[in-house]
Amino acid sequence: MKNKSEWANKLIFGDSQAMKELEDNSVHLVVTSPPYYNAPFDYPGLFESYDDFKNLIRNVARELKRVLDQGRIACFVCDDTLIEGKKYPVVADITKIFIEEGFKYRERITWVKPEGYIRISRRSGVLLQHPYPMYYYPDNLQESILIFQNGDFDYGRIPQEKKEESIVDLDETQNEKWYLSVWNITNVLPFKNRLEKGIAAFPEEIPYRLIKLFSYKGEVVLDPFMGSGTTLKVACELGRNCVGYEIDIELLEVVKEKLGISKQKRLFSPGFDIVIRDDIKHLRTELQRRIRGEVLMDITAKITGIEYTPFLCRKLNVFDLKDFDEALSSEATFILKIDEEHKVAVSWWVSAKRTRSYPYTRVYDSLDFSGKKVTIIPIVKDEGADGDRDFLQWDTVSLMSLLGVYVIIGYYEAASTNPDYANKITDQRYDTTYLLNAIKKLLSYQSDALHWNLSQLEKAGEIGEKALESYIQISKNLGVKMHSIDSARKRIKKLLEGKEAFLGLSRELAKKAQKRETITEQPKEKLAGGKSMITITNYLGGKYFFTVDEARLDGKNLLLFEGKHTKSKTLPSLNDIKDGILKMILLTNLKDVKIKDKRYNPVPILKLTTGTGLNIDSLIRSKREVLEGLKKEAKINGFKTKINDRYID
Ligand SMILES: C[S@@+](CC[C@H](N)C(=O)[O-])C[C@H]1O[C@@H](n2cnc3c(N)ncnc32)[C@H](O)[C@@H]1O
Repeated sequence: MKNKSEWANKLIFGDSQAMKELEDNSVHLVVTSPPYYNAPFDYPGLFESYDDFKNLIRNVARELKRVLDQGRIACFVCDDTLIEGKKYPVVADITKIFIEEGFKYRERITWVKPEGYIRISRRSGVLLQHPYPMYYYPDNLQESILIFQNGDFDYGRIPQEKKEESIVDLDETQNEKWYLSVWNITNVLPFKNRLEKGIAAFPEEIPYRLIKLFSYKGEVVLDPFMGSGTTLKVACELGRNCVGYEIDIELLEVVKEKLGISKQKRLFSPGFDIVIRDDIKHLRTELQRRIRGEVLMDITAKITGIEYTPFLCRKLNVFDLKDFDEALSSEATFILKIDEEHKVAVSWWVSAKRTRSYPYTRVYDSLDFSGKKVTIIPIVKDEGADGDRDFLQWDTVSLMSLLGVYVIIGYYEAASTNPDYANKITDQRYDTTYLLNAIKKLLSYQSDALHWNLSQLEKAGEIGEKALESYIQISKNLGVKMHSIDSARKRIKKLLEGKEAFLGLSRELAKKAQKRETITEQPKEKLAGGKSMITITNYLGGKYFFTVDEARLDGKNLLLFEGKHTKSKTLPSLNDIKDGILKMILLTNLKDVKIKDKRYNPVPILKLTTGTGLNIDSLIRSKREVLEGLKKEAKINGFKTKINDRYID
């Protein structure tokens, strides 16, 4: 045991799985709380798996066994963690690990927080909404303080004088009821701008009691997961020496501030040695970004083919060839009867952009048709200078190829003025003669959608030129100002260089858009976690870039969420649901899914959220039927459906 004069307090920034700065048996008490395993509001995605978390605890327990003096105490403040409706038995596992590493399990105190300060979720609301058996989920008000002992303590080793110096105040223990195994202590309140923001700090009262009860003045108190430095602060105030480990270098200033040693201001007599090792991490910025939903997990996957059976397709109306114009103006998806023997399913996109007027839903509705499925996409849609302009992207066509859908790249040739805006047009109409010619060619086409679509992409420049000429004409006829023709011409020129140039241009833009999408949360996609990028390679080496609304690791499983939200309706609209399902078609066919060369099992999840809660029993019949169809579709095709916090199956 070192004597007091040799000891200097230490702040060590580095991984506490190796406490090489500490000699064997040099510590007299440990008071700590480990990171809450991947807790969504504090440590989302910190550990790749629950096993990794347990390994950390085991390694630290081993080091604590070494550095703790004979008979001394290690206190772990911890709780089971709830992730995605599943509890991880952290308290039981930490207990087991410490016993396995040779500690004696001496005590468990339950720390009870006051009602009214429940920080995370009020799960009890579920029962309020559904006052029936099986809907019970309690709000959590407690954590455990696990107390382990490093063998037997030799009470005779402590001189009486030292005992007197550290005498426990019995008035305090009686009045505050320290003698019970339940401690009522207020947690650190989430005031704005508090020093402990984003740290999951415990209140000073906890180390205060433990230090008084389990250490003598002048001894050394260690916190291997220092956080904001609460244990160290209290230890110093109680005349103990201290040492703390913290892996996140971004907490250095917080700890210095808490200990009163920032700006050379020293509150406590002993100084601090600050060690910064090279195994530090920069965690907080990353964690805070994840908590705000900005996770960037780079996921790669392959698709070798699509197998999928849809059940929610709308029943399509059949139109004769001569009524093609009427079909286009009245239906988003329909069957076109070319002659007695030939029919095709046709859907059409209002704009080339996925987010406008549910193009995925339109395509989805054609997927259970047994013949050729065609989708018409405009090469460009210019709504006029007061509106938007969207260009077709390569990956949109690639996606259709994966789904076995034949693309016809079309263009608008007529439009009407928009009564509400000077420079906006509406009711844009395709060149249907051009489209019908393409459909007829397609009827006799023998090869698959992929090859057809590649030949369409080859023609994209040519079609783009036609589109531009049309818009110049429309602008003249209607007296409406359009977006810059010059910039459109530049883009089209690139397409004329061939499909490689188109691919290059789209790739660049798609990557940018993917990055953008990962940091902007759409109101329709209201999810707790973070967006992630997913890069899919197809069997010909083509690449698609997608985002999923949320990706979360759970052991070997990679949960991939596509979210749809409604604020006021009882269920997101059928259009929204089908739009989400189209992503499920891809996600259920992913192979070889990896993050940084590590392989995971993808679990696609369609997550529907409602602002008003969900009571399946009170849904109107048509919505219940949608849910039934969705359940069937999910089951047969291998994705999960979650509504608010419940999986339905
Ligand atoms: C629950 S917090 C501790 C909060 C602390 N009790 C307080 O009051 O501020 C756990 C801390 O452990 C840190 N941590 C996680 N892994 C670590 C490791 N391997 N070594 C050292 N510190 C680690 C985290 O960065 C986090 O600050």
